[in-house]
Amino acid sequence: HFQTLKRVNLTPGGVCKSAARLDGKTVLITGANTGIGKETALDLAVRGARVIMACRDVEKGEEAAASIRASYSQAQVEVRELDLADTCSIRAFAQQFLREVNHLHILINNAGVMMCPYTKTIDGFEMHIGVNHLGHFLLTSLLIGLLKRSAPARIVVVSSLAHNFGWIRFHDLHSQGSYNSGLAYCQSKLANVLFARELARRLKGTSVTVNSVHPGTVNSDLTRHSTLMTIFFTVFSMFLKTPREGAQTTIYCAVAEELHSISGKHFSDCTPAFVAPQGRSEETARRLWDVSCELLAIEWD
Ligand SMILES: NC(=O)c1ccc[n+]([C@@H]2O[C@H](COP(=O)([O-])OP(=O)(O)OC[C@H]3O[C@@H](n4cnc5c(N)ncnc54)[C@H](OP(=O)(O)O)[C@@H]3O)[C@@H](O)[C@H]2O)c1
Repeated sequence: HFQTLKRVNLTPGGVCKSAARLDGKTVLITGANTGIGKETALDLAVRGARVIMACRDVEKGEEAAASIRASYSQAQVEVRELDLADTCSIRAFAQQFLREVNHLHILINNAGVMMCPYTKTIDGFEMHIGVNHLGHFLLTSLLIGLLKRSAPARIVVVSSLAHNFGWIRFHDLHSQGSYNSGLAYCQSKLANVLFARELARRLKGTSVTVNSVHPGTVNSDLTRHSTLMTIFFTVFSMFLKTPREGAQTTIYCAVAEELHSISGKHFSDCTPAFVAPQGRSEETARRLWDVSCELLAIEWD
């Protein structure tokens, strides 16, 4: 009874009701070896898609792929190595992907780190902004041509409600002056929202859409770097969404028929969601775009 009560009342959340099939479609999901990404991979595989799981730890990825195949024997899932904390790995991944995969219909920028101690990526970016934003920015820029050639195509950027508490510290994007792991996470999740909106503006007229998502508060491995958050998530686990519940809005944005031309929006619980004023600023979005290109030494008009 308690479980039922919990499901019905305490963790309400949207459910993707679309029965859309994805036969013949190719999907790429970052961070698909666990949590929300793995559940997304399973759901889209059951819909008939070829699902490429981009994981930094191939062994963990293969275990996840095996468990997806155990749940659904016809799943077409494959694992490829991608470390978003290393631009060489991202470039190598994209190069091989473009050589070997002919279409990309759905890109899901899902991987993320939260509240890790101060660390830098291989390229010297602060870890949150480096993995959650810059890594996905570079990956998307390298695959955007393929997405356009495969159109209609969709990009889903997994952000968070945490974007509300973030601001882009252009004067110290990498938190070298002062570091707060919570604020660094919030900044990166705000960057996700701004990226999705600016990319949507630039993709107008291409049949490639991009939307951002807040998955809900989900019981996953995301808290692994914070003892306090791990305790909080453990104590309140009964009030949290399961990863499967947390994957619903991502799945909705990836497949729902009614969203075929919707772009630049933010969703939560499978409905349009509030975006903080700092996430709606076109000026900040453009500036972040330019700074990101500069940091990654790329040109992306
Ligand atoms: N859980 C929540 O309550 C919540 C709330 C709002 C938003 N979100 C967002 O939802 C997304 C998924 O999170 P989750 O809850 O499913 O967390 P999770 O279980 O910790 O999954 C995160 C995934 O990202 C991968 N990852 C981390 N660093 C990476 C890197 N450098 N390169 C490639 N992959 C990397 C992880 O790989 P490893 O397993 O190898 O570390 C893992 O597969 C994140 O973007 C998160 O910010 C989650």
